[in-house]
Amino acid sequence: MAIYNLGSINIDHFYRLSHLPAPGETLATHDYSVGLGGKGANQSAAAAKAGAKVFHIGAVGPDKGRWAVDRLASWGVDVANVSRIGTSTGHAIINVDEGAENSIVIFPGANRALGLGEVELALSVAGPNDTLILQNETAHQVEAARIGKLKGMRVIYSAAPFDAEAVRAVLEYTTILALNAVEAQQLTEALGVALDQLPVPEILVTKGSEGSEWRSLQTGERASQPAVKVDAVDSTGAGDTFVGYFAAAMDAGETTARALRLASAAAALKVTRVGTADAIPIRAEVDAFLEEQ
Ligand code: RIB
Repeated sequence: MAIYNLGSINIDHFYRLSHLPAPGETLATHDYSVGLGGKGANQSAAAAKAGAKVFHIGAVGPDKGRWAVDRLASWGVDVANVSRIGTSTGHAIINVDEGAENSIVIFPGANRALGLGEVELALSVAGPNDTLILQNETAHQVEAARIGKLKGMRVIYSAAPFDAEAVRAVLEYTTILALNAVEAQQLTEALGVALDQLPVPEILVTKGSEGSEWRSLQTGERASQPAVKVDAVDSTGAGDTFVGYFAAAMDAGETTARALRLASAAAALKVTRVGTADAIPIRAEVDAFLEEQ
């Protein structure tokens, strides 16, 4: 059992602000920091910190690419399938306000320039007991999802950043579609169907303070988890942490209820910390946090 993650790798530039800038407004930040991010890298970091064997598939450029890959490897992620290419490493400009909310601008760079051959090669050794994770920040999501389904892998697709067409294109190859409440509403509106009628075997919906829910659309089975109350300082990467922990738990053969509990605790801990991949808790911290609850 292992997790293959075709995932973005970004250099995250964090600006802490009193409030998010309005159109036409210029704001001075009182705090600036840089860290490893990208929805894919965050999910790989989360799954590896949760204890899974993770193979990251992606690309970085000559600028800080080495630093990004070394950072990912430091948490035990296998980075042999991260290509070094001539296009700049992806980056993100992340504004975070005093209420822990954010707004993000992404420059995709190398994430969208990765070759299909590299993805195919990386997945050639994957098998039916493995999990494939995808998000909407890289090239070749559909091709990878198709390979994953053909191999009988559990394919988890995070509909983020949300694009209805991108979701529509991977749905037939997806096992678990992961969405937040806003994305779930956008998708049902775009496809003109209720959440329960989406043509996908399972859905995983995170609903902020209302907790999270997994549903099998094939059997009607459900599991839900209330949100854990914490003092939030930065919500960036919480969804990625949730998906990475959930995927790791499912890959390890845990029940969906247990996977939801672990994922929700990991995401809650993450929002108490500033940053993205670096701020994701390790499994021992999550277990200790759950014991305190
Ligand atoms: O989900 C948070 C992530 O979105 C950040 O790490 C940023 O890089 C963007 O991909």
